[in-house]
Amino acid sequence: MKYRLNTTNYHDFATFAVNKLPARSYFIPYPGRAAADAVAPKQKRYASPKVQCLNGEWDFKFYPRPAELPVELDTDAVHFDKLDVPSCWQFRGYDKPFYVNIRYQFPYKPPVIPTTGKVSRTFSWLGCDTGIRLQWKVPGEEYNFVGVYRRFIEIDDADKRRIVSFLGVASCMDLYVNGFFIGYSEGAHNTAEFDLTGKLKSGHNELVVVVHRWCNGTYLEDQDMFRNNGIFRDVLLRTEEPTDLWDIDAKTEKKPDGYTLTLSAQTLSDIDVAFTVKGHGLEQTATVTAENGTAQAVFAGLDVTEWNAEVPTLYNIYYETATSCVKEKIGFRTVEIKQDVFLLNGRKIKLKGVNHHDTDAANGYTMSPDDIERDMLVCKRFNIDTVRTSHYPPDPLLLELADELGIYIVDENDLETHGTFAMQLPPTYNSISNDPKWESHYMDRIMRLYQRDKIRGNTSVIMWSLGNEAGGYHNTDAMYDYLKQHSPLPVHYESAIHCKRQAYDVGSEMYPSVKMVHNVGEKRRKQARLNDRPYFMCEYAHAMGVGPGNTEAYWQEIYNYDNLMGGCVWEMVDHAVLHTDGSYTYGGDHGEWEHDRNFCVDGLFYPDRSPSTGAKLMRFIYRPIRVAHVSGGQFEVFNTTAFSTGRYRLAFRWNDGSKTILTPQTAPLMKETVTVPLGRAVDGLLAVIVETTDTVTGQIVSEEQLVLAQEVAAAPAVKPLPGDVAVEKGRLVCRKSGVVVVAGADEGTLLYRAPTDNDVDAMFHNLMVLYTRQTEETVSTQQTADGWQVVTKITNKRGHYMVTDTYKGTDSGVLVTSVLHRVSGSQEIPRFGKTFRLDEVFDAVHYVGRSGESYCDMKDQFPIRAVDCTVADMTEPNLRPQESGNRMDCTVASVSDGKTCVVFEAVGRPFELGIKPYTDRALLSMKHRRDEARTGTYVTIQAFQQGIGTGACGPGVMPEFKYHLKEDCTLQFLIRIEEA
Ligand code: GAL
Repeated sequence: MKYRLNTTNYHDFATFAVNKLPARSYFIPYPGRAAADAVAPKQKRYASPKVQCLNGEWDFKFYPRPAELPVELDTDAVHFDKLDVPSCWQFRGYDKPFYVNIRYQFPYKPPVIPTTGKVSRTFSWLGCDTGIRLQWKVPGEEYNFVGVYRRFIEIDDADKRRIVSFLGVASCMDLYVNGFFIGYSEGAHNTAEFDLTGKLKSGHNELVVVVHRWCNGTYLEDQDMFRNNGIFRDVLLRTEEPTDLWDIDAKTEKKPDGYTLTLSAQTLSDIDVAFTVKGHGLEQTATVTAENGTAQAVFAGLDVTEWNAEVPTLYNIYYETATSCVKEKIGFRTVEIKQDVFLLNGRKIKLKGVNHHDTDAANGYTMSPDDIERDMLVCKRFNIDTVRTSHYPPDPLLLELADELGIYIVDENDLETHGTFAMQLPPTYNSISNDPKWESHYMDRIMRLYQRDKIRGNTSVIMWSLGNEAGGYHNTDAMYDYLKQHSPLPVHYESAIHCKRQAYDVGSEMYPSVKMVHNVGEKRRKQARLNDRPYFMCEYAHAMGVGPGNTEAYWQEIYNYDNLMGGCVWEMVDHAVLHTDGSYTYGGDHGEWEHDRNFCVDGLFYPDRSPSTGAKLMRFIYRPIRVAHVSGGQFEVFNTTAFSTGRYRLAFRWNDGSKTILTPQTAPLMKETVTVPLGRAVDGLLAVIVETTDTVTGQIVSEEQLVLAQEVAAAPAVKPLPGDVAVEKGRLVCRKSGVVVVAGADEGTLLYRAPTDNDVDAMFHNLMVLYTRQTEETVSTQQTADGWQVVTKITNKRGHYMVTDTYKGTDSGVLVTSVLHRVSGSQEIPRFGKTFRLDEVFDAVHYVGRSGESYCDMKDQFPIRAVDCTVADMTEPNLRPQESGNRMDCTVASVSDGKTCVVFEAVGRPFELGIKPYTDRALLSMKHRRDEARTGTYVTIQAFQQGIGTGACGPGVMPEFKYHLKEDCTLQFLIRIEEA
């Protein structure tokens, strides 16, 4: 079939919609109530006889040279490939995955985008791949690629009204049917609907969709993510009878005599509509005849159970006509701001949140219903109760599941213009958002967000968000006003901080320091509008690589001040690309001409949703009940929930085996003191693990350990070293039963750790580099009466240091005493430790200490326990290998080959333990998991290692978690070789 293709819509600024139907609520009609009742949310859009899902294999033709896309397209003459819909073409072998954070992929000249020619050189002063500096770059073979999709649909009743709904297409779409142009849409994450009535014929129909890589709207979609394209969400073909509904709405309002529920519908003709509310013993129906296409019923004085994320009570609502039934679920709840406090159902609430992107390592933006459900269930399992849908509206299913499962949603508009900041000097955020010529484009987006999700605005959606990092304010004001006219919900928008608005209904920031948050609590911030309204951290605790460190400190503030609402960790899941061999790649691995490396790999969860330490840490920090030791047998219980009393059962398990169980009746956000019999210390340790169980779900939600005493034995009496221990070339060498243990195996790393993603400064400089170039030189080796003494000089760019090692004999092995002395230069040292090398057959690990990855600013998530594992379990599978797997508070550690066991025992105080299959130096050059070649077993016993912080994007390591060498530091432990 022949088509005359439109050649201008995608780059004509005046055009962002042609023949697109007005926005309406997302809903799926069924022919009757029984069918509507029978279907689960996940299946809804696939099971209705009134809706045909057009997912599946489509024909696809990719035009790598857009100039070759003919204006006269004859689909019979095109040699199409096959492509599954929904999907992203970069994840199916067309073009390539392209990750960039802030910058546009083309020269910044809004609203101009590349059309058919090669992308010309671009200017940007900021780029993570190259640091911060002025730069022009030439992109190479980059074009505004085009994908042409085609599929046939069979229709047997062509006279029926038919609407096609595209739930997500990036960046834009021109739609054609049977040789004719139908319409055009921009707004990748907004639903686009077109009326095909009269355009379809009985039998075979051809549907053609032309998708451009970029359109004018791309200026508004500059989010930090892989920049993907295609029909990436479901496509639905709806058959509508004249007696069906066009749109539905629901509004709840709390009044002194109960809730009022207003159900309304827009109809295609003036028909009868029966509105019903039903559930939990309530059932009311009102039948109303529509006038001028509108029908409405008001149910007043409803005595209902309110919805909240802890107990998500929902009621069914039905909209029924002679030919259709739409069933939705709704919760009754209020959201209000009283002065500077955010209230849900009249109660203070603290939002324990994450940012959620639609990301899948095999499919890009495309997420199946199972994927979406899995992500929401993962949130519930990890004590996360709030999701910000960064930075665009999610698939509507996500919101429906959030209603059901109990998750608060900050529903964000598809808007980000971050490149305005990076690609012009002086940098500014506001160029597009304060330019009135873009206003209609902004309004289209916010209207489509609100209209699609308005029913959820009664339940899980507790705030609308105008977008992300787009500055302001002319166009953001206009969007704000629109929302205020339509909805009582507060409006969130962080980027107001970059314009004179400072804040809309709630103050919002990303990556503030704990001090900044504290100052909001104290109402001392310079930006007055952060002080006078509720304050929300829309992003904090950047979860890139090992970390986020020092996150608990935010929650100390949040619980202290009523105006602090909580926040959302950046972000839930790593973005990456999965390959058939199981490997993952990130920015720059696909030949991108500009990119931001692994800055997209910054989730609490790995791409397959297995939890990293960050996820386990947040599960702990977000725990519903916190316990602290007061004194003697007195413990303080803090209920951090907003609505639950007596729901959590606490089992106090002492390390002597004794146990006490209680179910405190502490009121929400209150503390109370309880008395629990103390256990007895075992081997110097007196500790209790408080295991908290949710009596509703039966799940353990946290394990919190309180260490009341931990004593570590002092050094035993010394005696001469046995003959099988010697110092050779300045290094301690222990031999026994054919086993050789050599100290100092990782030369040059005594004071150094392989950098984590957070070991960078604001200019993206690697803070550990100074230590990688340090030299270690043995100054003297002396035999003493009972052993050896070795003095080593360490020199790096920050200073000069001396280490005096003495090795002495004892009945429990060799006593190693290492004293670090600063000669000159910096007091700040990243770590002080000693590494021993063994062959890789020493793979069985045993230790007593923090039972998972822990650093001094993130350790309480793992109780001290005895652990048996292997060397592989002692590092984290970060997509970019880096320092990982430290274990705090260890009193003993051993590695064994099954026959012989090399034991390290703490003396005087616990040590920090690292066990890796390679050296810290080798780690420095590893970029992907596949680089992690094993070269042995490396055990590092450390006096300290500095904290982690969130320097990749946010505050670095706090001073209290850095080590300042004010006086000499001593590391002491025993080492011995035993028969296993
Ligand atoms: C924020 C932004 C996020 C992400 C994050 C860093 O500035 O809103 O989208 O880029 O920084 O990972």
